[in-house]
Amino acid sequence: MRAQAEAEAAAVEAAVAAVAAAEAQEAAAAEAAAAAAAASVAALAAAAAPPAAVPLDELIAATDGFAEARTVGEGGFGRVYRCDTLPSLPRVACGFAVKTALVGVGAQGLAELQSEVRTLSTACHPSLLPLIGVCLAPARACLVYPLCRGGSLEDRLYRAPAALQRLRMLGFETPPPPLSAAARLRVLRDAASALHYLHTLSPMILHRDVSAGNILLDERGNGYLADVGLARAAEATAGGNQQVSHLSTQRLFGKLGYMDPIISQSGQASQLTDGYALGITLLVSLTGRGAV
Ligand SMILES: Nc1ncnc2c1ncn2[C@@H]1O[C@H](COP(=O)(O)OP(=O)(O)O)[C@@H](O)[C@H]1O
Ligand SMILES: [Mg+2]
Repeated sequence: MRAQAEAEAAAVEAAVAAVAAAEAQEAAAAEAAAAAAAASVAALAAAAAPPAAVPLDELIAATDGFAEARTVGEGGFGRVYRCDTLPSLPRVACGFAVKTALVGVGAQGLAELQSEVRTLSTACHPSLLPLIGVCLAPARACLVYPLCRGGSLEDRLYRAPAALQRLRMLGFETPPPPLSAAARLRVLRDAASALHYLHTLSPMILHRDVSAGNILLDERGNGYLADVGLARAAEATAGGNQQVSHLSTQRLFGKLGYMDPIISQSGQASQLTDGYALGITLLVSLTGRGAV
């Protein structure tokens, strides 16, 4: 009797140990994958390679025909889809975010995009999200970036149902915990250093759409400033169809609440108006309140 009980207890113990070992192995694998993804975003940001031309049919195939199930966000330019591989680009652990205009962009929109792409190709900073692929098909202009699996600073701050859904799409099985003050400051520091870099280039590059939604996180909590200069192209491509979240004065485009009053008065973007938007971003990040 006693020997049998002892054998049973040993079997249970062994089973528990096996489960624990499997769990540890799984956690280690997830940890390694997260580290690899974060490292690949950093490597792409450091590479300074001009964006590659990606054919439209490749993007259609990789996103299952721009499938709803692959959507990770929607904004001023159009929808954003995720995909793992694109034959025209080197394989990366983080995967790709494909941003596509919802409608044909027209000749003016294409020219505007092309000029933005040229400008941005000269910029390279460790905390600037690089543009790694472009498709300038008149029917559907697309921009390809590294996928930032940590989501946007905005989504990590507000954690509204739609934000949590986007974070699920990026791979969070359960909602991530709120960002600590130190984590927020780290992301803001990264974004601010990228903005400072743009402002000190010659010729200077203005961002024009700094906001918590345009600061993205990798899986390690590093921040990346995204969508440099895209505001101008978005305005040209949106035509009369602008989203209500964006205000436009002449050639200017920015998110409500982040737009310096100077812009509506003078119609002029500058380092100061980018700085104003960064200040609002700091405020919303540290208080958790909305920009408006
Ligand atoms: N490279 C990316 N990696 C992960 N998520 C992204 C990426 N780019 C955009 N997104 C998600 O898609 C949303 C919409 O992006 P975008 O079109 O840039 O709109 P917005 O006008 O809010 O900047 C972002 O808020 C973010 O949640
Ligand atoms: Mg954006």
